Amino acid sequence: MENRPPANGQAQPPVLLSVQGLSLEYARRHAFRAKRTETHALRDVSFDLREGETLALVGPSGSGKSSLAKCLVLLETPSTGRILYRGTDILQLPPEARREVRGEMHLIFQDASTALNPRWTVTEIVREPLTIHSKGLSSAESTRLVIEALEQVELGANWHARRPRELSGGQRQRVALARALMLRPKLLILDEALASLDLSAQGQLGNLLLELQQRYAMSYLYVTHDMRMASVLAHHFAVLDGGRIVPRTLPTELIAGTLQPVS
Ligand SMILES: Nc1ncnc2c1ncn2[C@@H]1O[C@H](COP(=O)(O)OP(=O)(O)OP(=O)(O)O)[C@@H](O)[C@H]1O
Ligand SMILES: [Mg+2]
Repeated sequence: MENRPPANGQAQPPVLLSVQGLSLEYARRHAFRAKRTETHALRDVSFDLREGETLALVGPSGSGKSSLAKCLVLLETPSTGRILYRGTDILQLPPEARREVRGEMHLIFQDASTALNPRWTVTEIVREPLTIHSKGLSSAESTRLVIEALEQVELGANWHARRPRELSGGQRQRVALARALMLRPKLLILDEALASLDLSAQGQLGNLLLELQQRYAMSYLYVTHDMRMASVLAHHFAVLDGGRIVPRTLPTELIAGTLQPVS
């Protein structure tokens, strides 16, 4: 396995995302008890992610990985902390500016089927981000981009008119990836996004992610249990445990080369 050198040669690329002291609690109210219980999903989480680089986020089930991913795309609101995107705290932005920043980041969920509208065809699902964010595009141009994105994830024409329930789990993940790629996000968060694919499909999509990163300087937050894939794709890693980033070295037999702890 190859090591990944810094994204642009020797110089450090600029920081795209800086997460500072993020904490998140989920409150649960019990039906027959006055007391509320709280789950501390994230505790004082901090890290930087640079342009064109990949941070692998690993950690046991329930350690807060998906919660962190949801905070970054503003689906959960942290109780404390800052999320600086290009130096601006997105938690403090007015709604219009938030929407603009949200157009530059995309989260692919652990289970894509929950994120895909069951009534829409593959083409409609992949086209939707363009309809929302790129209103000036002609219909012919948007069709061309949709077909190109579906080709990139190797979903040929005979899949385009299908609905999510007519696809396998792996094919649904490809649709989610094609949809995510439509707007060339600066930050792509992949929450176990390749986990349901077989090894050869994981390899193909891994290569596609590497190629797109090189071409468009995209940054990836790659949430995974698979350290082998992480060591191929990532420049840095962070380990979450009990909602905290913990200093941990990883088993050397799983890590080839110079994967560095996040700073
Ligand atoms: N909507 C919610 N309401 C209450 N508690 C939640 C909610 N979502 C997650 N949790 C709790 O927060 C903690 C972190 O969950 P999270 O889904 O972020 O973990 P994870 O690291 O993604 O796990 P996995 O590897 O299994 O996907 C867990 O204890 C979980 O039970
Ligand atoms: Mg999760």
